[in-house]
Amino acid sequence: MLAGVKVFATRRYPGPAFDELGDVEVAPLEAVGEDVEGLIVANEPVPLERLPRLRVVANFGVGYDRIDVPACAARGVAVTNTPGVLDAATADLAFALLLAVRRQVVAGDRFVRSGRWGGAWSEGGLAEEVSGSTLGIVGLGRIGSAVARRAQGFDLRVLYTRRQRADSDLGEFRELDYLLADSDLVSIHAPLTPETEGLLDARRLALLRDGAVLVNTARGEIVDEAALVAELASGRIAAGLDVFAHEPEVPPELLELPNVVLTPHIGSATRQTREAMTRLVVDNLLAVERGHPPLTPVPA
Ligand code: 8YV
Repeated sequence: MLAGVKVFATRRYPGPAFDELGDVEVAPLEAVGEDVEGLIVANEPVPLERLPRLRVVANFGVGYDRIDVPACAARGVAVTNTPGVLDAATADLAFALLLAVRRQVVAGDRFVRSGRWGGAWSEGGLAEEVSGSTLGIVGLGRIGSAVARRAQGFDLRVLYTRRQRADSDLGEFRELDYLLADSDLVSIHAPLTPETEGLLDARRLALLRDGAVLVNTARGEIVDEAALVAELASGRIAAGLDVFAHEPEVPPELLELPNVVLTPHIGSATRQTREAMTRLVVDNLLAVERGHPPLTPVPA
């Protein structure tokens, strides 16, 4: 397969579709050669200056914030991503974090393992209810909508904000400041762009209700991480965080806090979803090889 396109991948991406690439070269990006025409990355910066024959960058992931798309477009290089196939897995994880934080699941697990559980049932440490509370979704795109649909099963009232104000059956539109002030739970589902970087700054984090839960499965840079750490250290709010501003670094203060659940950027990390992402990456490359437009191009 892909006889006409020399492909380089920064790792062996999961699933059987990857084998259709045939003699793809798999190595870290530093080793990329100047004859490469198709490049598979996981949201990694592309060294365009070293790749005179590059035709397509196939990103394994929906977010492409580390790829200079305008520079690629200026060189006539197509960029593709993997929208849609990871919505369910990411929405599931957002809910897992939300439930884990709200119902103190990780603290409960630690308590049981510690051997300190003495009664037949737990009388202390009552949590706040998830069902019936208000969920604010920052970014009602594909993933945010999948979260909103899950919210219906928990009888949540859903508020949402998004770039282009438009009505939705999935919830009630609110400007961001009002959404933050009116929600018990807030989940971020926006892409990282110059407009969303630092969107939840200290002022906006201060708008969150006492006891609110913030969940981030999008990008760490959307939240002012230092301000978030300060809010969490004060104990005023709680958080479920799958993403961080400087991955894999996690602010050390967070490691000690009982009101935080931390996961290592696993929003799309199910077998089915990761295999579907590889399928879409490969299908985009095959389309380019056949002279067809890519299936899921990133807008230039
Ligand atoms: C990936 C993601 O694991 O799709 C995204 O935007 O963050 C994750 O699915 C990561 O980007 C590697 O490509």
